[in-house]
Amino acid sequence: MTSDNRKPTTTDAGIPVASEENALSVGPDGPIVLHDHYLMEQMAAFNREMIPDRQPHAKGGGAFGHFEVTQDVSRYTKAKFLQPGKKTEMVARFSTVAGESGSPDTWRDPRGFALKFYTEEGNFDMVGNNTPVFFVRDPMKFQHFIHSQKRRADNGLRDHDMQWDFWTMAPESAHQVTWLMGDRGVPATWRHMNGYSSHTYMWVNAQGERFWVKYHFKTDQGIKCMTQEQADQMAGSDADYHRRDLFEAIKRGDYPTWTLQVQIMPFEDAKTYRLNPFDLTKVWPHDDYPLMEVGKMTLDRNPEDFHTQIEQAAFEPNNMVPGTGLSPDKMLLARSISYADAHRARLGVNYKHIPVNSPKSPVNSYSKGGAMRMHNASDPVYAPNSKGGSKADPERYPEDAVWQADGEFVRTAYTLRPADDDFSQANDLVNKVMDDAARDRLVNNVVGHVSGGVEEPVLSRVFEYWHNIDATIGKRIEEGVKANRGK
Ligand code: NDP
Ligand code: HEM
Repeated sequence: MTSDNRKPTTTDAGIPVASEENALSVGPDGPIVLHDHYLMEQMAAFNREMIPDRQPHAKGGGAFGHFEVTQDVSRYTKAKFLQPGKKTEMVARFSTVAGESGSPDTWRDPRGFALKFYTEEGNFDMVGNNTPVFFVRDPMKFQHFIHSQKRRADNGLRDHDMQWDFWTMAPESAHQVTWLMGDRGVPATWRHMNGYSSHTYMWVNAQGERFWVKYHFKTDQGIKCMTQEQADQMAGSDADYHRRDLFEAIKRGDYPTWTLQVQIMPFEDAKTYRLNPFDLTKVWPHDDYPLMEVGKMTLDRNPEDFHTQIEQAAFEPNNMVPGTGLSPDKMLLARSISYADAHRARLGVNYKHIPVNSPKSPVNSYSKGGAMRMHNASDPVYAPNSKGGSKADPERYPEDAVWQADGEFVRTAYTLRPADDDFSQANDLVNKVMDDAARDRLVNNVVGHVSGGVEEPVLSRVFEYWHNIDATIGKRIEEGVKANRGK
């Protein structure tokens, strides 16, 4: 201890240092010396503090907590963390999609809703959004979609013309765009929004029966949103408002909770349901598949080091534990490869050794080597082996979250079914879910957004797009934009 009882500063090698204020120099007025390795360490570590942002979803925040099962869904899944009464530690990260790591929290954008559950049979990740649908249904379009929402090549600016150019040339985006331009496109805080898996996943029960499932995490704080004016004002006055709100709520003991509800579709129904249940641009109407309660998620612990615990958190939709699985949704299947690849690029091949990403259950894998490896590999380093190494157990852990597929190789999103059109669920949202005041705000939001730089030929397509969603709303948007432009 120092004379005033504080811990002595050391280098990263634990060597006590003589000063954190002055470099070593040849006399007080002389040059600094190259062998001042503490100064070198300070400068070199500083130069390497930043890691690449996540490509999408760069700006976010998060916290730790737990998930507790309150109902019995064991007839649908054998997943251990979903059995009655089970309590599982977890981490959550919320984010915007298009902005960079310093961008305002209140820009209109979907919000990421990423969860990692440290279950006794490995990590289960639910990497969802605060919306139940998405802009595109084929993974080939995802990268182009994100480019259209980020910045132009020439001036480095975001560009509404580019956004609407993409959206109007991808009419399957209509449902998600209607949702985004409505009230929920800017949540008041992360605590006041729902989270959805959006995709359809699979559950498998102890008898090997399979079900399709959609996850809905409903906020217990109630839905609250910001108007465009409030959001714009907040973007200028506190760009980190959502990150701050979550941290401060948890700090004062006001722990946010969400109730997990699921929609369950029997495996065989998927073959004949009137719309493709794996198409990410559609919801399953609640009348067809009602919500069923599962449990409650509570966030009650703030990070102590944002960088190691939140920035380096790596969520991946392929983290599915026994009793859970993927589905034929092509977006989801592509995601099951993309995220681990992104983590290797952003954090390094051994990113699962970072404590926030490490499972709390035993790891008996044959991976070895690689930069920044923290866990010792041990012999034998190959399988099969007769040296007592771990062995896959298909009796206990069968490959059972599977489905059949056949057909020629094609490049087609899906076979269309009778109810598979791009506009009717967007129309339901406008006419069945929104009230007059919400429709007025929708029109104002679109008129404001489109008036901010959308030009011909995109502009005419924007009017057509909204006419296809709803003739009245389309007319009002066209009139509003033309009035703004004095035409
Ligand atoms: P329901 O009336 O059963 O459900 C309507 C849903 O809309 C509720 O989940 C409600 O969420 C949500 N909602 C309410 N206001 C808004 C808003 N301004 N923006 C977005 N969502 C809102 O109808 P259906 O299941 O038949 O679905 C009708 C339409 O509702 C769909 O086309 C879809 O656009 C939207 N929707 C449907 C969901 C689903 O999974 N079926 C999920 C979310 C939206 P809450 O209860 O949390 O207030
Ligand atoms: C982040 C790819 C669709 C939700 C990311 C990242 C990539 C990616 C590469 C950055 C990961 C990282 O660096 O840690 C894709 C691809 C998609 C797709 C290829 C489609 C083919 C979706 C969809 C959702 C979603 C449909 C929601 C339902 C998220 C979330 C994050 C994220 C929440 C941030 C996770 C975090 O907080 O770390 N996505 N994405 N993505 N994506 Fe996607």
